Amino acid sequence: MSDSQLDKKSQAWSALFSEPMSDLVQRYTASVFFDKRMWRADIDGSLAHAEMLAAQGVISADDHAAIQRGMAQIVSEIEAGSFEWKLALEDVHLNIEARLTQLVGDAGKRLHTGRSRNDQVATDVRLWLRGEIDLIGALLVDLQRALLNLAEQNAEVILPGFTHLQVAQPVSFGHHMLAYVEMFSRDAERLLDVRRRVNRLPLGAAALAGTSYPLDRERVARTLGMDGVCQNSLDAVSDRDFAIEFTAAASLAMVHVSRLSEELVLWMSQSFGFIDIADRFCTGSSIMPQKKNPDVPELARGKTGRVVGHLMGLITLMKGQPLAYNKDNQEDKEPLFDTVDTLKDTLRIFAEMVGGIRVKPEAMERAALRGYATATDLADYLVKKGLPFRDAHEVVAHAVKSALQQGVDLSELPLATLQAFSPLVGDDVYQVLSLRGSLNARNILGGTAPDQVRAQIARHRARLG
Ligand code: ARG
Repeated sequence: MSDSQLDKKSQAWSALFSEPMSDLVQRYTASVFFDKRMWRADIDGSLAHAEMLAAQGVISADDHAAIQRGMAQIVSEIEAGSFEWKLALEDVHLNIEARLTQLVGDAGKRLHTGRSRNDQVATDVRLWLRGEIDLIGALLVDLQRALLNLAEQNAEVILPGFTHLQVAQPVSFGHHMLAYVEMFSRDAERLLDVRRRVNRLPLGAAALAGTSYPLDRERVARTLGMDGVCQNSLDAVSDRDFAIEFTAAASLAMVHVSRLSEELVLWMSQSFGFIDIADRFCTGSSIMPQKKNPDVPELARGKTGRVVGHLMGLITLMKGQPLAYNKDNQEDKEPLFDTVDTLKDTLRIFAEMVGGIRVKPEAMERAALRGYATATDLADYLVKKGLPFRDAHEVVAHAVKSALQQGVDLSELPLATLQAFSPLVGDDVYQVLSLRGSLNARNILGGTAPDQVRAQIARHRARLG
């Protein structure tokens, strides 16, 4: 298409239109400046479509060869940054098709046979998203590996475990890290599940009703490595549920990152002093020279709101749309793209940052000692000696109250004092009252004993391969 033809086209779609679009309407309706990032998916989809059109005898072998030649040229232009994206051509699809026609003439005009931008855009988004899901899967593996290393180095380190943010029971720091490995492994699983539904082919649905050309949709799906073909043309062009469920899975992954972030921020504060985060992930203050702020986890916590917002945006976008395609769907792209960008950057930076966490075992242990974290162990000890659990619970509450009044730990109460609360107490009680004794005692599948932690690390490593 020459530039003068392009100008005419930009003014009116076809002979049907009697006046051009205003500049504002053109800008308002165009998507090329954000959807051009799907150019490779668009070209891959077009090449698969053209190959099938030729195999079915809908276009000639010569036309097919011309389309391949033109597309190869377009790929090199886009990669070199010399491709001229035009707002007047509205979106990535029309920009590429117009350039193809400029390069190879009528063959370019035949590419769109049996196709509509409606099934084309749905295909592009799916292809693009499939590639991104695979990249995100790899980043989730990197993050899990980084957490596993940190867990392994700290399997024996005692952290006060909290409920209600009150010291509850001692846990292994490694065990705590493994909790996040579980979360991120489920995120990866969820994305794989979403991928199966993303990876289906809309092409052949055409505008909404299918097409009268003898297309071989299964062949196109195979060429594009898709798991199947969308079975209803109306559904194929109109639903964006796959993008919504991807964003839901991404939101959950971000929520997991956000919970970890919150803990890192707390732990790095002076009040906790449990960890230090490498300087390269922190910033200083322009006014308070002593400050080192954990900006990366704080920002990740903030960006979680942004991704959850995209989920709300996308799901609301779908609500109330009649079948089949509506222009509303053009609004699926920016939230989806930003979700992918935000999640990828966050996972990448977290995998690195986790490697830069310095654990301070003495501070953690001191905090665990301050909170009567072994009170449950004392109750369990009395139960083993025959006291019913509810009674043991009460006995220990009295012991803790008295220790609190004296400002000492349970393990610092003399034997005679402990025996005053229950004659069942013997001098073997001190082993039970130690943090390490408490930790080692929880040697049950999924428990915090260091042996269990090491077994879990081995299981995860085998799983990740
Ligand atoms: N840019 C459009 C989108 O993102 C492409 C499909 C346009 N189809 C149409 N009938 N106007 O949804």
